[in-house]
Amino acid sequence: MSWGLRNRLDRVLPGLPNGTGSVMFAIDHGYFMGPTSGLENPRETIVPLLPHADSLMLSRGILQNSIPKRTNIPIVLRVSSGNSILNEDLSNEKLCVSIEDAIRLNVSAVAFSIYIGGAYEHQTIVEFSKLVNDAHSFGIPVLAVTAVGKDMNRDLRYLSLASRIAVELGADIVKTYYCEGFSDLIAACPVPVVIAGGKKVPELDALKFARNAISDGAAGVDMGRNIFQSDSPENMIQAVRSVVVQGVDPKEAYEQYKSSL
Ligand code: 5RP
Repeated sequence: MSWGLRNRLDRVLPGLPNGTGSVMFAIDHGYFMGPTSGLENPRETIVPLLPHADSLMLSRGILQNSIPKRTNIPIVLRVSSGNSILNEDLSNEKLCVSIEDAIRLNVSAVAFSIYIGGAYEHQTIVEFSKLVNDAHSFGIPVLAVTAVGKDMNRDLRYLSLASRIAVELGADIVKTYYCEGFSDLIAACPVPVVIAGGKKVPELDALKFARNAISDGAAGVDMGRNIFQSDSPENMIQAVRSVVVQGVDPKEAYEQYKSSL
C-alpha cells in the first residue's frame, strides 16, 4: 500500500492504528432520496455534529454547498449515482464524479455502490473496478457500499458474499450491515469493514448493534439516519462515539444520551 493511500485510510478511520472503532457520519442519502427527513436543511443539521465525527460520507453537491471550506474533517465522496426513489430498481448506478474532481475537492476516499444480485450487478462491478484503477493510481482509497438484490435477505449469506466480492475487486473499505454471525463476515473480508445503520430504530438498539459490530471486528460505523433522525442528533452522535471509540457500554451511553436531552 502506498504512503498516500495508507495515510488517507488512517485519516478516514483514525481508530485503525489503535485498534479502536471510528465514526464515519453518512449524509449522502439525498443523492437518490432528495430532502430526506432530518436532512432537509443539510448545513443546519450537519455543522454542529462535525466535531464528533471522524469522517464524513457525502455527495459532491452537499460538500460544496453545505460544508465549511475551512474544515479538517476527512471527506469520503460518493461518486456513484443514477437513481431516484421514484424508480423501483435502485441498482442502475454508474460512476458520475471524475477522479480529477474528487482530487480537486481534496477528498480522503471515494465511495461507490455495488449491487450484488441486483439487475445491474455486472455494470456496477465493472464500473467499480475501473474506479479502483483510477483512484489507486492517485493513492485514494475506495469504499465499496455493498447492496444486495432487493429480493435477498440482509443476512450473513448475502452480505458476506457481497463484502467478499468487494474485497476481491480491490475495495479498501467495505460497508455492509450488521447481521447474525457477523464475525464470519469479518473473517472472510480482509479489509476494514464499517456498518451502515439502516432505517431509524430506537436509540438503544442502534447503540447495541454498533457495539456488537465493533466487538465482532468492525472498524467502525458509517451511520446516518440513526443519528440525524434522532430526537437529538448531537447527543446521539456523541453516544455512538462513546460506544464505538471509547468502548462505553451501550446502556450507559444511552443513559448519557437521555440525561442530556
Ligand atoms: C446509501 C448509503 C448510506 O450512506 C448508508 O445507507 C448509511 O446510512 P444509514 O445509516 O442511514 O443506513 O450508502 O446508499
